[in-house]
Amino acid sequence: MRFADQSVIVTGGASGIGAALARAFAAEGARVAVADLNEPGAAAVAQEIGGIARRCDVRDREQIAALIAASEAAHGPVDVMCSNAGIANGVDTSFANAAGADPAAWQAAWEVNVMAHVHAAALLIPGMLARGGGRFLHTVSAAGLLSQIGSAPYSTTKHAAIGFAENLAISHHSGGIRVSVLCPQGVDTPMLDGMGGRGREGPQAGDGLLSPADAAAAALDGVAAQRFLILPHPQVAEYMTRKVADYDRWIGGMAKLQNRLYGV
Ligand SMILES: NC(=O)c1ccc[n+]([C@@H]2O[C@H](COP(=O)([O-])OP(=O)(O)OC[C@H]3O[C@@H](n4cnc5c(N)ncnc54)[C@H](O)[C@@H]3O)[C@@H](O)[C@H]2O)c1
Repeated sequence: MRFADQSVIVTGGASGIGAALARAFAAEGARVAVADLNEPGAAAVAQEIGGIARRCDVRDREQIAALIAASEAAHGPVDVMCSNAGIANGVDTSFANAAGADPAAWQAAWEVNVMAHVHAAALLIPGMLARGGGRFLHTVSAAGLLSQIGSAPYSTTKHAAIGFAENLAISHHSGGIRVSVLCPQGVDTPMLDGMGGRGREGPQAGDGLLSPADAAAAALDGVAAQRFLILPHPQVAEYMTRKVADYDRWIGGMAKLQNRLYGV
């Protein structure tokens, strides 16, 4: 029971990795607030685990403030904030123009994959510092460390999410704040259905798809160990090493992989 009586919020908790995180934290004794755009889905998960549910669009700081207030009223000050909601949009495997996604798609990716993390931290940091600490778990992706072949908006915003999490962790380390980034490759969730129909066979699936429960188990181990980088697919560490060792060779290798997968 590593999280007994802890107050935990999970965004994007109606589905996939978020629902698995909510279940895993509850199984370790946490009191969980499940938030999602999909209110019935969040309510079903909350009912299953004895938590509370709230409809919340994480793009909107005021809705995150209302979520935090509801969670704190039910479960006390937030110990672990899981900013997990994310979208994989702007996928174009014709590779006609990497920058060619509609500006609205870029904006949506920015707001959900990055600014939602900023909003939650902005609201929670003062209280956490006053209490001597707190934890953030940001579901990012291996795409934030490597790349997402076929989606520049996803790659770019997931890299930005890593940048924000690093800064958050550094800025508040002395205040007892600990930040973890969950960076899997493919996880078998509904998100993969939306990726141009290629989510289960694209590069993210190359090392095998994990179950959401396995990704969540890795996440809880990482948070409990106060580890910044959580890699449910351990191969990603080797890919990162190759990338920093020889960036040009890595770009060439990724281009070859794109060609092998998509013929472009
Ligand atoms: N599935 C994968 O292969 C994979 C790999 C790496 C990282 N991720 C990341 O994991 C996270 C969870 O994705 P998933 O795979 O479980 O997908 P999913 O589609 O099953 O779940 C995402 C949930 O987020 C919710 N959501 C989307 N926009 C929202 C918003 N504006 N406000 C509130 N909720 C919103 C959706 O309603 C959905 O319930 C995402 O950040 C995703 O980028 C997924």
